Amino acid sequence: MKILGSGHYAPHTIVTNDDLSKIVETNDEWISTRTGIKTRHISDGEEASDLAAKASIEAIEDAGISAEDIDMILLATMTPDAMLPNCASTVQKKIGATNATCFDINAACSGFLFALNTANAYLVSGMCKTILVIGAETLSKATDWSDRSTCVLFGDGAGAMIVTADDSKAFCSVSGSDGSKGSVLTGAATPLKNMLVNSDETGKEIANYYMQMDGQEVFKFAVTKVPECINQVVEKAGKAVEDIDLFLLHQANVRIISSVAKRLKVADHKFPVNLDKYGNTSAASIPILFDELRKSGKLDDVNRVVLSGFGGGLTWGATYIEL
Ligand code: ACO
Repeated sequence: MKILGSGHYAPHTIVTNDDLSKIVETNDEWISTRTGIKTRHISDGEEASDLAAKASIEAIEDAGISAEDIDMILLATMTPDAMLPNCASTVQKKIGATNATCFDINAACSGFLFALNTANAYLVSGMCKTILVIGAETLSKATDWSDRSTCVLFGDGAGAMIVTADDSKAFCSVSGSDGSKGSVLTGAATPLKNMLVNSDETGKEIANYYMQMDGQEVFKFAVTKVPECINQVVEKAGKAVEDIDLFLLHQANVRIISSVAKRLKVADHKFPVNLDKYGNTSAASIPILFDELRKSGKLDDVNRVVLSGFGGGLTWGATYIEL
């Protein structure tokens, strides 16, 4: 697989840690030291498809193709505009990709990686030639703004890549899920109700619409599973960890990233971080990071890259790509 182009977009409103300390009992020092997050972008009305469309237009221009050249749109999100139509189809309409087959993938923060793996399968099979892969989230909709243990962590944004088949660029992936641990990170998110079975206990139910998380369990899971699957994918690619130029991890917490680097015995500088600016943007974090690095020239001398994501489900994965 070859990455022809990339793009990203984040809403203009920036919320600082000090801003959050005005709505919940928290402070910049706690958030910065426990997570590394300083600011996050929050949508004031833009939907996931709006963010995705803006990132996609940038990726299309970067790739030097036209929207009609795209034959598939895969959109990873857990915060779509609506249950129907799927968010990828809404993006199709917004960018004019009239020849694309469109569907969404929900695997929380591993979503972009799973979408990229899906794109690779379609390319390898010859079913598609040019695929737009997007990670887009409006997590602010799914956030309980009265819960200080989660509301400081998340942000909104979108990242996109245009990919095509290329035998000269190796692609290798490992992934997994553990549904038995699904309760560690939950959120019904969309307050859809069966009108025929309307409950009076709305208050109780509404609490479940928003994300709830056992942070320590997620932390323990991430720092064990991520190094494990990175080692697996590197071995599968016939490489050693030292051969990898950069590791682009899901941007959830700088302590998770440092711990993974330490466990792999790799220097921190090979694990770029931008979560200080964006917070955890779930499925969008890896493509946003990729695009920022690419546009700033930091990928110019980079060839072998490992992407790794983890999140609700539980889900995890690592993918080896060559640029
Ligand atoms: N400000 C101030 N104090 C806080 C805050 C806050 N925002 N949040 C929690 N606290 C308090 C707690 O109440 C607790 O107080 P207590 O000791 O009096 O009970 C204390 O801080 C410590 O809380 P912990 O939960 O033990 O803090 P911890 O060091 O574990 O950090 C954190 C919490 C940052 C959430 C961490 O566990 C973490 O990053 N986990 C991974 C989360 C993650 O990556 N989630 C995303 C997964 S991806 C996806 O699918 C969406």
